[in-house]
Amino acid sequence: MANTSDMPVFKSRDPLRAEFWDERFEQDFIPWDLGGVPQALREFVERSPAPRTVLIPGCGNGYELRFLCDAGWNATAIDFSPAAVQRARRLVGQWEQHVVEADFFAWQSEQPLDLIYERAFLCALPPAMRPQVTARYAELLAPGGLLAGFFFFGSAPKGPPFGIARAELETFLEPHFELVEEGEVVDSLPVFGGQERWMVWRRR
Ligand SMILES: C[S@@+](CC[C@H](N)C(=O)[O-])C[C@H]1O[C@@H](n2cnc3c(N)ncnc32)[C@H](O)[C@@H]1O
Repeated sequence: MANTSDMPVFKSRDPLRAEFWDERFEQDFIPWDLGGVPQALREFVERSPAPRTVLIPGCGNGYELRFLCDAGWNATAIDFSPAAVQRARRLVGQWEQHVVEADFFAWQSEQPLDLIYERAFLCALPPAMRPQVTARYAELLAPGGLLAGFFFFGSAPKGPPFGIARAELETFLEPHFELVEEGEVVDSLPVFGGQERWMVWRRR
């Protein structure tokens, strides 16, 4: 049996609220956090022909923001949790102005985006939000723009993370995007249980 005295106690149970995430960052209960930049993103950047304008929604600690900015990419990371924003700003140092406290559904880009980077954002929100999240991806990208990152598959009803069935992901994305690349994830964390895929979707 789990030793309940070691388990953090949280007041907020609703991942649609910033307080939910604040509490977890503040108590350092962040099992989704890789502590660095995933290998598949590193390889994607290496083989990309030119720097791109990128949005990282729900950036958490923001390792990828620092990596992309260091590589010369024009990246913006947003998060609606003040605690996450504070951590990301501290981590990214000179790039702190690229971290914006904002709600993904309200944030407006000042310049056209080439790429949205997805990691542990879609799966962080309850399944009922999937139509809104995927529609917003489509809204933020012009034809040819890319949605690239990690997609967590599964059927367990409890989350976050909330795994999605592949057919359901396709139902939401295929009207707007075509899948142009897919690969395995070599550095998946236990919380994602090897059920992640690296995917690149191109806006139609
Ligand atoms: C599971 S964490 C993932 C963090 C980061 N992407 C990573 O891979 O470590 C989900 C993040 O999304 C943020 N988030 C959830 N809903 C959001 C929204 N509507 N707008 C902006 N950020 C949001 C949370 O505050 C949290 O930092």
